Amino acid sequence: MLNFENTQPIIYQGSCLENLPNLQSNSIDLIITSPPYLNRYDYTRTYALELAFLGCNEEKVKHLRQTMLSCTVENHDKHDYLEKLYSTIERYSDFLKVHSTFEKQAALQEVLEILEIYRKQGKLNNKNIVRMIHNYFYEMCFVIYESARILKPGGIMAMINDNVRYAGEEIPVDLILSDIAHSFGLTTRHIWTLGRGKGNSSQQMGNHGRSELRKCVYIWEKQTL
Ligand SMILES: C[S@@+](CC[C@H](N)C(=O)[O-])C[C@H]1O[C@@H](n2cnc3c(N)ncnc32)[C@H](O)[C@@H]1O
Repeated sequence: MLNFENTQPIIYQGSCLENLPNLQSNSIDLIITSPPYLNRYDYTRTYALELAFLGCNEEKVKHLRQTMLSCTVENHDKHDYLEKLYSTIERYSDFLKVHSTFEKQAALQEVLEILEIYRKQGKLNNKNIVRMIHNYFYEMCFVIYESARILKPGGIMAMINDNVRYAGEEIPVDLILSDIAHSFGLTTRHIWTLGRGKGNSSQQMGNHGRSELRKCVYIWEKQTL
C-alpha cells in the first residue's frame, strides 16, 4: 500500500526529453501521461494567451515550439540534439539503443515508406508531414525508453493518445508505440478504446469515406526482473 501522506510534489520545468534522463532508474511507481498526439496541433498556439501572460515574446515562443515533442509540420529534426544530449550525460550507448529500436520498428518504417511515396506523388497537403511523423515516433522512442528505465519493476505507465490518418493511410499509433514499449521492457496490459472513436476531417471524409480512428488509453507494465 502506497503512503502519500506528508509528501510534497516536485515540479520540474522543461522538456521531458531533458528531464527524464536525469531521473533515477527504478524509482517511479506510476507514470500517467498525455503526450502530444500526432495531429499537427501546435501547443504554442493553443496556449498563446498563457505564454503571452508569462512574458514570452515571439522569439521565445519560436524556441519553445522547437523544444516540444514534434507534432507539427514546423518541428525540426532533434536527432543531433538528442545525440549530443546523450553524449553529454555519458549515455551514448542508450542513444544508439533507442535509435536502432526506432529503425527496426517494421510497421512504422512501412508507414513512412508509403507516405514518402504519397509525398512524392503530391498526395499530402503539406510536404513536411512525413518528417513530422518520423520525428514524432523518434522522440517518443526516447520518452518511452526513459519512462521504462525510471519505472520500478511492476510499475505502470498509462498513456492517452489518438490514432491518426494521413492521405487515407491510418497510422496505428497505439500498436506502434506499444511495440516500441515492449522493446524497452514494458508489457501491454490493456489498450482501452473509446466507444466511439474520432471520424475523419471533412476533407478526408470526402476523399476516403468515413471510418473510425481509435482514441485510446494504453496501460503498460514494467516487467519484473
Ligand atoms: C495532449 S496535451 C496534454 C495536456 C494536459 N493533459 C493538460 O491538461 O495540460 C500534450 C501536452 O504536452 C506538452 N508537451 C509538448 N512537448 C513537450 C515536452 N518536450 N516536454 C513536456 N511536455 C511537452 C504540450 O505543451 C501539451 O501541454
